[in-house]
Amino acid sequence: MEQYFTNNPDLKSELRTIIYKYKGYELTFYSDNGVFSKNKIDYGSNLLLETLFKNINNENLNILDVGCGYGLLGISAAKILKAQATLCDVNKRALHLAIKNATANGVSSSVQVIESNVYENITGIYDLIITNPPIRAGKEIVYSILDGARDYLKEDGELWMVIRKDQGAKSTMKHLEVTYKCEVVEKSKGFYIIKAKRH
Ligand SMILES: C[S@@+](CC[C@H](N)C(=O)[O-])C[C@H]1O[C@@H](n2cnc3c(N)ncnc32)[C@H](O)[C@@H]1O
Repeated sequence: MEQYFTNNPDLKSELRTIIYKYKGYELTFYSDNGVFSKNKIDYGSNLLLETLFKNINNENLNILDVGCGYGLLGISAAKILKAQATLCDVNKRALHLAIKNATANGVSSSVQVIESNVYENITGIYDLIITNPPIRAGKEIVYSILDGARDYLKEDGELWMVIRKDQGAKSTMKHLEVTYKCEVVEKSKGFYIIKAKRH
């Protein structure tokens, strides 16, 4: 079965749009076959954004979105929090969509899109790292995204993630406690929004 994180240039393109609304904002995202949650905003991703926007008021933050897909998290944060956002993924089609979506939402000057396997091509240092990690890519990749964030966060930076209870939210938190102080900021329909800060 084709996974959303594999590159298959032969996969037929069927561009479509998804609307993301938050308060007075309305953002348009192009999506396509072969990317995660291609037809509608993932419930967990939406919950992560809503929770972030409720809790973070600072502008001009430097944000890294790891596993950006078509760019929902990083682009919405760039627009609504007036942040500088770096987005990365391994899926080339997703990366092309993310570039198109940054332009479509008027934030191309504050968004950088980088092809990167986990942090391989990331050189910055961030106030926030946000991720809806690729559970289907396996625990090793997920943990390398979450554990690795430590080296790309400012001293008081924060890692925010969404993980489903039935996909190991609790065991992931236990694992992360070696590196971070973790807090469940929100829970809804089995999705946990977890904030992690370096010890
Ligand atoms: C659950 S999706 C989230 C997509 C998007 N952030 C959203 O919320 O709609 C996880 C993303 O991680 C990407 N991914 C998988 N393996 C990766 C890796 N080794 N390095 C970076 N990204 C990866 C996938 O291609 C996919 O786009």
